Amino acid sequence: MSSVATIDHTDWTAMPDREAAVKATRALEAGDVVLLPELGFAVESGEASFFTPAILDNSKNASFDPASGRLGGTTAKGRDAETLRRFIQRFSESAAALVNRVLPRYRDHLTRGRASFRPAEIAGRATTWRKDDTRLHVDSFPATPSGGRRILRVFSNVNPEGRARGWRIGDEFETVARRFAPELRLPLPGTGHLLSLLRVTKTRRSPYDALMLQLHDRMKADEEFQTRSPQTAIDFPAGSTWIAFTDQVSHAATAGQYQLEQTFLVPVQTMLDEQRSPLRILERLKARRLT
Ligand code: SIN
Ligand code: FE
Repeated sequence: MSSVATIDHTDWTAMPDREAAVKATRALEAGDVVLLPELGFAVESGEASFFTPAILDNSKNASFDPASGRLGGTTAKGRDAETLRRFIQRFSESAAALVNRVLPRYRDHLTRGRASFRPAEIAGRATTWRKDDTRLHVDSFPATPSGGRRILRVFSNVNPEGRARGWRIGDEFETVARRFAPELRLPLPGTGHLLSLLRVTKTRRSPYDALMLQLHDRMKADEEFQTRSPQTAIDFPAGSTWIAFTDQVSHAATAGQYQLEQTFLVPVQTMLDEQRSPLRILERLKARRLT
């Protein structure tokens, strides 16, 4: 079962000792969540007005793309939009500083993806089963294929009322992948190319990405798996930060409001042990290359 490894680290830009860095890297690659219980992200006074789901358009989250500098998912306009953009950008840069120091092995190989601010209450949110993150799943992105790279995410609970964010964490990736592998179908040749031509995806969807999307969906759709497979509940306190490979860790967010998140992509070749990656595990199960 996946579990939680705690690291004492209280500053976004401080250097942890070498031992803590090795511990964090090993724990993440083993499928654990790394929790930094005392590392809070400081919200500035002008940012408090964004702490309402009313800033969202129809999206689950407001987002910031460091590559383009663009803000999304929000109805905020003008000066408000600028302040919100700077808030998420500040978190994005803090998360990058943290990961570069705590996970130095990946430092020169990371791609910083989008960051998000999540002001909606998770519990009771109405959505379709596929988008329902209260159901156990591994992450996979329909429009932006990872091409086999790992999805590493930094989360910070900024709830101003001191409420925790509740997650459930499920079984190990290999166990879950074995359970669903017989149902996962390799895409027809040319499908990845076609999807990018049609602009369904930004880049070509690899067979790996196709299998991961199916795995995400099969997990969420399987009632027996959701209720009966081994799982543990964890509460992430307000003012804490945690890191996980969410393409590997089966997770479900069950309750909580106001969270920041930053996504990084990590090439499997930079891992201590790439055989633990979802890419290499699925390649073994399907007995073929998937990227
Ligand atoms: C998820 O990645 O499934 C949601 C995590 C969260 O918002 O706490
Ligand atoms: Fe997720």
